Amino acid sequence: MTTAETSTNDTINQDSDKSTLIIEGKPYEMPVYGGSIGPSVIDISRLYGQTGKFTYDPGFTSTASCESKITYIDGDEGVLLHRGYPIDQLADQGTFLETCYLLLYGDLPQKSQLDDFEKRITYHTMLHEQMHTFYRGFRRDAHPMAIMVGVVGALSAFYHDSTDINDPVQRDIASLRMIAKMPTIAAMAYKYSIGQPFVSPQNSLDYSANFLNMCFSVPAEDYKPNPVLSRAMDRIFILHADHEQNASTSTVRLAGSSGANPFACIAAGIACLWGPAHGGANEAALQMLEEIGSVDQIPEYIRRSKDKSDPFRLMGFGHRVYKNYDPRATVMQKTCHEVLDALDLKDEPLLQVAIELERIAREDEYFIEKKLYPNIDFYSGITLRALGFPPEMFTVLFALARTVGWIAQWREMIEDPSQRIGRPRQLYTGPTSRDFIPVDQR
Ligand code: SDX
Repeated sequence: MTTAETSTNDTINQDSDKSTLIIEGKPYEMPVYGGSIGPSVIDISRLYGQTGKFTYDPGFTSTASCESKITYIDGDEGVLLHRGYPIDQLADQGTFLETCYLLLYGDLPQKSQLDDFEKRITYHTMLHEQMHTFYRGFRRDAHPMAIMVGVVGALSAFYHDSTDINDPVQRDIASLRMIAKMPTIAAMAYKYSIGQPFVSPQNSLDYSANFLNMCFSVPAEDYKPNPVLSRAMDRIFILHADHEQNASTSTVRLAGSSGANPFACIAAGIACLWGPAHGGANEAALQMLEEIGSVDQIPEYIRRSKDKSDPFRLMGFGHRVYKNYDPRATVMQKTCHEVLDALDLKDEPLLQVAIELERIAREDEYFIEKKLYPNIDFYSGITLRALGFPPEMFTVLFALARTVGWIAQWREMIEDPSQRIGRPRQLYTGPTSRDFIPVDQR
């Protein structure tokens, strides 16, 4: 039995399968559920009905919003598992489409299953021709993430034959369409922003080579994707595929809980991912490295990042869950070196700044005490820019890869018989009831 004091002198006694919360002297028993690994949960779903009280957890630092079998993170140990497989093994030995199959269906595919899945994805990569007109409504200088939110949301207007969330066949087609079309949509957003013609998908190319071809080939000359860069792109997609109940995934689940169609839910996830505290951090991290500019400027920026009166933060550092090195950042740093070597950019000055910044930060008492380590966004910006992408495309690539995670989590929620519409409550501290005063008497 364990006992913990709470502020109102209530205590929580917890044994193997239940907790007792004592409020104003009265005991309330709540079930405790254990998972396969990781923290157990206290089921408080009947707390309000029994006590008239809510729990309070802004930012959900101690709240499990759902049960899931897809991804497990051990933040203290720096572990990330997709259906039990460690991220570094998937990134080093597998392909992105193998990881997509794993996330969607729960196991690594056999060869025949993978061949069939790759073929089904390949034959869904084209976009309805009328959507090309949709792009032309945007200003040329629109941020590509603004285009992604708009175009993905509009997919339900073009593919309404796969929007019935209660039909498993339509859910599967919508899933394949999203995964298959995101590279086409992303590449078109890039081409539109630089005023070049859209490039059609090529079924003869694999997923990542096809994406690089749609981004960087032009009708005026032949383009042959560099296999080292295609492999690096594929690995970067694997690293970004899913990450448990992060902000954008929680957004997709909440939108899906109302019965919204999958395209609208993914568009909501893209909108949330855009924030600089989340998926926008890769773009912000590169801008930060460029602002620092040189190794001798690092101490000043480290000082600023610790100054509460200064809004500057080390972008690409820190994480809500990882209080150890983000295992994705390890693979991303290795990929960064591979890409720079392949492009003969070994002396990229920003990489030297990033490596020295990481070294200094990780020896700094503040970062050690707050357990702030590089996250996936710290090295991704340098890598993506070396691949030829402008910073405003970095979060688009994150969204492209995370689509499979959003879809897998959305499907899990839809197929969960106990799922209900998400509707959090609040601690209200606004005005109590008061009567209206006509404007001439105010
Ligand atoms: C992603 O959730 C996911 O899984 C997200 C993601 C995914 O795959 O989906 O992993 C992708 O979003 C990675 C995170 C990318 N964001 C950044 O790199 C932006 C910089 N990082 C911070 O904004 C911050 O670390 C967060 C947003 C990532 C986490 O914020 P938390 O968990 O709310 O932590 P916090 O802001 O409360 O920080 C705790 C303390 C604070 O100091 P105190 O108030 O306790 O004194 O650490 C400090 C913060 O000031 N701190 C930093 C810091 N990050 C946190 N100080 C300097 N530089 C930083 N980067």
